[in-house]
Amino acid sequence: MKRTVLILVVAAGMTAVGFWSRRVSGGVEQPIAFPHKTHIALGLPCATCHQRVEKDAVAGRPPTAVCLDCHAGGDTDNAEIKKILAYGEKGQDIPWKRIWRLPPHVFFPHQVHVTAAKIECQTCHGPVETLERPAPRPLKTLAMQNCIDCHAEHMWTTTVAGKTVHPTKLVAHRKSADCVMCHR
Ligand code: HEC
Ligand code: HEC
Ligand code: HEC
Ligand code: HEC
Ligand code: HEC
Repeated sequence: MKRTVLILVVAAGMTAVGFWSRRVSGGVEQPIAFPHKTHIALGLPCATCHQRVEKDAVAGRPPTAVCLDCHAGGDTDNAEIKKILAYGEKGQDIPWKRIWRLPPHVFFPHQVHVTAAKIECQTCHGPVETLERPAPRPLKTLAMQNCIDCHAEHMWTTTVAGKTVHPTKLVAHRKSADCVMCHR
């Protein structure tokens, strides 16, 4: 009970500041003009670069080595590719900036959404495959009600004593209203 009250106080304070708008107002500039469109058109799965998306809460940004797999011997006249090579030579990760970020009082796990629920990335992130350069702000954002509405619609798989129980909407209803599931 105490915890819920704390969450509410913290969360209410954060709303006053206006989270999404504050974080993305100026727009983010990335270190390299990476085109999602070109790479997705090559048929690369998202998880080639966002390597933790199927097994972790966070999706993760690509290590420089992933880029070098294809670009090490590539077009060295290109200014953007030169930047990749320079980070590679220094043994550094490319300092990609984060644009999608929920308030710290919200917990969002990628793995269950992508694996168990099989929800497409674009359902939440918008048409990433059309991006010819990095997006300065999220193409789409999720408000609390968007999360709750989808949870109320979906079936849930539940594991009881190591066994997967037939998914039901009843469970979804209980979970979709449970503040502590998302606020922890
Ligand atoms: C599977 C191979 C592959 C991987 C992995 C890959 N790329 Fe590429 N990338 C390509 C190909 C192919 C092109 C298109 C080249 C062209 O049009 O000349 C390209 C194009 C680009 C361009 C546009 C270059 C231009 O012509 O303006 C940039 C910038 C780029 N990649 C950055 C990256 C970065 C950063 C990473 C790592 C996060 C990465 N790439 C990972 C294959 C790859
Ligand atoms: C070749 C590597 C590569 C592939 C494939 C790739 N991405 Fe990315 N992604 C990046 C890089 C690099 C960034 C950071 C620069 C940017 O925003 O463009 C990024 C950023 C993002 C972001 C913003 C993350 C943040 O910090 O808020 C989202 C969302 C995203 N990608 C979704 C996708 C989806 C969905 C797919 C598959 C349809 C995909 N990506 C495929 C390399 C890749
Ligand atoms: C159900 C909605 C949903 C789906 C489906 C989803 N994401 Fe996300 N994604 C989010 C939210 C919400 C955040 C912000 C999380 C946070 O701030 O804790 C996020 C953040 C990210 C980020 C930046 C932060 C990080 O975790 O590294 C990347 C990259 C990303 N998503 C890629 C993907 C890719 C790739 C897929 C598909 C394989 C995908 N997402 C599927 C909702 C979703
Ligand atoms: C498009 C539909 C959809 C959206 C949008 C969505 N979710 Fe979910 N989420 C699901 C489904 C379906 C499951 C249950 C997966 C399963 O266990 O079968 C789930 C499960 C979860 C879980 C429980 C994970 C566990 O360990 O059991 C959390 C936490 C969660 N979502 C948080 C969020 C948050 C926070 C947002 C909004 C930022 C969000 N979700 C948006 C469909 C969605
Ligand atoms: C399915 C996930 C989920 C559940 C369940 C959930 N929330 Fe949230 N909540 C969120 C997300 C995501 C945000 C941040 C929205 C944003 O930044 O726009 C949020 C934000 C908030 C805020 C800040 C105000 C706002 O709307 O941005 C409060 C207060 C809050 N939640 C209270 C609650 C209470 C009380 C419950 C239980 C009745 C609850 N939440 C259940 C996902 C959830």
